[in-house]
Amino acid sequence: MIRTYDTQIKLPNEEVVEKAAELLKKGELVAIPTETVYGLAASALDNNAVEKIFTAKNRPQDNPLISHISDINMMSFLCDEIPETAQKLAKAFWPGPLTMIVKRAGKVCDRVCAGLDTVAVRMPSHEVALRIIKAAGIPLAAPSANISGAPSPTKASDVYADMCGKIELIVDGGECEVGVESTVISIVGDIPTILRPGTVTKEQIEQVLNQKVENYEKAQSAPSEGDKILSPGLKYRHYAPKTNVILVKGNMEKYCTYVNNKAKGKSGVFALCFAQDEKHLNCPVVVYGEKNDSKQLAKNLFSSLRKLDDENASIAYAHCPDENGVGFAVYNRMLRAAAFKVVNLDD
Ligand code: TXA
Ligand code: MG
Repeated sequence: MIRTYDTQIKLPNEEVVEKAAELLKKGELVAIPTETVYGLAASALDNNAVEKIFTAKNRPQDNPLISHISDINMMSFLCDEIPETAQKLAKAFWPGPLTMIVKRAGKVCDRVCAGLDTVAVRMPSHEVALRIIKAAGIPLAAPSANISGAPSPTKASDVYADMCGKIELIVDGGECEVGVESTVISIVGDIPTILRPGTVTKEQIEQVLNQKVENYEKAQSAPSEGDKILSPGLKYRHYAPKTNVILVKGNMEKYCTYVNNKAKGKSGVFALCFAQDEKHLNCPVVVYGEKNDSKQLAKNLFSSLRKLDDENASIAYAHCPDENGVGFAVYNRMLRAAAFKVVNLDD
């Protein structure tokens, strides 16, 4: 029987944090804020609880989840010993938007790891997330709290739009500061490899480890049939609004001319653009930030994609972000939102 809930959005006072922890310990789901995006949390030690996440999100069965901890000692639920590389990364970037893939051991349940012998772990920096994990006293499995394939939620109301009736409680911690999901790095092989770029950049990690780090090249290309993929999440169409998004590379002048031509005499054609582009465009726009402020672009990306849907845009031409540093994470999400459709005006 499908249970439907009268879903409540609550501010994180002591009582609500306690209630969230109680629900989680009982094997229920709770949506929690993190600094990256909202997470749909369940006990990482309880297969039945984790199963509910897959059902609520309609998530592909083979896509493993990240376990969230509030204290380095909680690693003992997930792995035997903390590798030296992990210790260095934890010291530099935790709490914060970095997820490490390590060899799995301990009490973490099978469902979290989707049958792999590794586990993903992260200590978020959002104060409310830390309070809830601490109160529950167990690691929390938490993917982004959206329906699989939709843009990740960066506000409690985004979670409500996707999870209404499916969970009892959404804890409202305000708007997420970072806006894109954590950097995922695998440290199980010889060379640390970034499986998903985020705002903790390859260059920052290389500096801390004093070692070469790789970007997993398949993270930036459309998956082809039969590809063996290191991070199962990369296989799926992601972050896509209902609006048909097309990524456009080129300077302001070329971009605006191209979009104005496409929009001429048509309705429903939008520009997902930089603040600088706006005054040169003759169509409806959603501005996602300043061209040179990648952190701002990251913060606004998912809410801008959701806004396109709210405004019933049929097609949106997105101005491609700079691919360096934090911009690389924005680029990676944008590619998926556009289902890898790219127009290069510089060619
Ligand atoms: O910022 C974040 O990471 C957010 C917040 C809620 O913490 N969470 C999040 O979770 O983005 P999710 O489930 O949407 O993304 C987890 C990613 C997926 O691409 C998954 O395939 C990968 O991490 N992953 C998890 N465990 C893995 C493992 N053992 N090996 C390889 N990839 C793994
Ligand atoms: Mg996700």
